[in-house]
Amino acid sequence: MLSWQAPAADPPARRWEPGAAILPGMRDAGQELAGHPDALRWNVRYGAGFAASFAAHPLAVLALSMRLPDGPVLDLASGPSGSALLAAAAGRRVTAVDVSDVALGLLDEEAGRRGLSGLISLVHADLGTWRPQPASYALVLCTGYWDRGLFAVAARSVAEGGLLGWEAFTAEALRTRPGLPAEWCLGTGEPATLLPAGFDVLIQSDLPDSQPAARRRLLARRRRFAA
Ligand SMILES: C[S@@+](CC[C@H](N)C(=O)[O-])C[C@H]1O[C@@H](n2cnc3c(N)ncnc32)[C@H](O)[C@@H]1O
Repeated sequence: MLSWQAPAADPPARRWEPGAAILPGMRDAGQELAGHPDALRWNVRYGAGFAASFAAHPLAVLALSMRLPDGPVLDLASGPSGSALLAAAAGRRVTAVDVSDVALGLLDEEAGRRGLSGLISLVHADLGTWRPQPASYALVLCTGYWDRGLFAVAARSVAEGGLLGWEAFTAEALRTRPGLPAEWCLGTGEPATLLPAGFDVLIQSDLPDSQPAARRRLLARRRRFAA
């Protein structure tokens, strides 16, 4: 079974351990997120009838095939992440963060089946407030989720020479999904235009015909500081 702990480098997170006895702080943590609207929505989505593919995201496949410094991988809004499993299978420590305890439970089970539990830390947290330590991760990945405030701190959590991969809806998605909140969508040139100094953009490309709506993909590398 996974330890359900964030690495020591990260600030305290809400933790959840399925089927375990009550641990210190666990009851409070569970209650804190139990009524969170994102947790409620996504727990239903990942509930009965959902079949996780555990396919790694193409950005993760690409990033993990490239030059990377030593160090862990951070998967934000991971869901039941095939990307986290791929990184762990490559020998990386992985921190997967998600508001859905159901998603983390699915990832936990699959990691156990593949013998990867020891490499994956599952953090049950709201990304509206959870924040990673700066300059700590060889690869920071976030696909299918957008929050400007999170993007800025996520970029700063990339280690020197490391990669940042992101994919989110663009404003064009509003044409096909008018109900989508505009703040979930990237504006013109984003997210590359929001990168802090010291990043080189390797890829920023639109996927206009993607399902369920138009998305944009970014891969950027943080420069090594001058000696
Ligand atoms: C579209 S899914 C993307 C999952 C995965 N990254 C992928 O690419 O398949 C969005 C994910 O964001 C998570 N999420 C939504 N709101 C969140 C929040 N406030 N904090 C943390 N995770 C959240 C959901 O639980 C869900 O797993």
